[in-house]
Amino acid sequence: MNFSELSENTRSYRRFIENKEIPMEMLKKMIASAGLAPNASNLQRLRFSLVTEEKEKNILFSGIGWAGYITEWEGPSPGERPAAYIVIQAPVEEKVFTGIDVGITAAYIVLEASSNGIASCMLLNYNKDSVTAVQGYLPKLVIALGYPGETVVLDKDSENLRYWRDENGVHHVPKLSLKTLVLKG
Ligand SMILES: Cc1cc2nc3c(=O)[nH]c(=O)nc-3n(C[C@H](O)[C@H](O)[C@H](O)COP(=O)(O)O)c2cc1C
Repeated sequence: MNFSELSENTRSYRRFIENKEIPMEMLKKMIASAGLAPNASNLQRLRFSLVTEEKEKNILFSGIGWAGYITEWEGPSPGERPAAYIVIQAPVEEKVFTGIDVGITAAYIVLEASSNGIASCMLLNYNKDSVTAVQGYLPKLVIALGYPGETVVLDKDSENLRYWRDENGVHHVPKLSLKTLVLKG
């Protein structure tokens, strides 16, 4: 898979094969890739918590808001829930670039996951109190992970911004055209 194909395939998935465990070495590989991401002054301030225990997963899951545009859907049912999560954590002492570092790092994680056939969804709508506290750190982003349990397709060159689900349960992600993206040039 070249990079363009990987970018196309790396979509947000919200339904997974819950009982298909992601091997620990695969999860560690995602964190290793995260550790290679560019970051401000190479300070490498971010750290990562793996959530794989059943009880911890259930607590985290209970605070997540899924797919705000698909209002009639309450989120993944039992059996469709994430198999694991990676929580990106930053030191309590926030820097102006923290959010940028978090975003770039998250992209590395989901691209590494996707290149190994693992689906993901970045999540900002979660309950911070549902994340097991780590002294000196605050959770910044949760990434849900699992083998894909739904079909997600791109609707290219669309001016629509709202993702949607069709009558066959296929999740559609509209993306703007190149013409719209280029402001100048
Ligand atoms: C910073 C960030 C926060 C997000 N938070 C949520 C969230 O809380 N719940 C959710 O279902 N999806 C969330 N998403 C996924 C976006 O909805 C998704 O990226 C967008 O619909 C485009 O789909 P795509 O990732 O397949 O391109 C988030 C994505 C990003 C980058």
